[in-house]
Amino acid sequence: MPEHVVGVDVGGTTIKSALVDAGSGILMGQRFVADTPRPATPTAISECVAEIVRALAPTDATPVGIALPAVVRRGVVETAANIDPSWIGYPVEDSLHTALARPVTAVNDADAAGIAETRRGAAAAGSGVVVVTTLGTGIGSALLVDGTLVPNTELGHLPMSGRPAEHLASTAAREREGLSYVKWAERLTAYYGLLESLLTPDLIVVGGAVSASADRFLPHVRTRAPIVPAALGNDAGVIGAALAGRRVADQPVVMPAAG
Ligand code: BGC
Repeated sequence: MPEHVVGVDVGGTTIKSALVDAGSGILMGQRFVADTPRPATPTAISECVAEIVRALAPTDATPVGIALPAVVRRGVVETAANIDPSWIGYPVEDSLHTALARPVTAVNDADAAGIAETRRGAAAAGSGVVVVTTLGTGIGSALLVDGTLVPNTELGHLPMSGRPAEHLASTAAREREGLSYVKWAERLTAYYGLLESLLTPDLIVVGGAVSASADRFLPHVRTRAPIVPAALGNDAGVIGAALAGRRVADQPVVMPAAG
């Protein structure tokens, strides 16, 4: 297993990164935050990631885990609800692997948060069905069954009053509509009710930057399952991306066949 992994969490406004201990998932030193380039195309983001890796990676072999606000399957981006549409179809793992000459793993950002919260956060003791949601520009979701991730669930796009739920219940929706925390909690009650009717989770974790203000809205959100704030806050994406990068770095890197 590598000793360290560079974790990178690409968001709509910032790119967060840190060197992470591969065993414990603990940040080694400072977390860096840079503005997300605009437009946030694959080329622009890849340049940022290359700079981050040059600054952070102690050796040429240090692997990289990258979290993106998109469905990522077998290293290819499949959706782009909150990032530049040019990401769709982009082979992010292969491209960054070539550019950085080291193992690269890409995962959905909410899945990264779910991995981190399960490893050393609010879901660490959670067996059974756990849903980790991230409330931000969109709503991200990670579904974990006895600690195993079911990736790319995209539960923020469930229809609510005929619209994708994230258009009504994300942090961005609260800010856009000037909702009080209590009013927003009503929307969240409806949203989590929908999740519960589908999945009957044993635990719901609420992440995203707003989890730091959980005491303002969470007491007003009614759910059947226990609902708790995320423990790792803004670090969850970086940590989870790194932990995902560590897992894949354990496997041999399969190089494309010549010709
Ligand atoms: C995207 C998800 C992402 C979530 C949080 C949604 O709009 O579809 O892939 O996890 O936003 O960033």
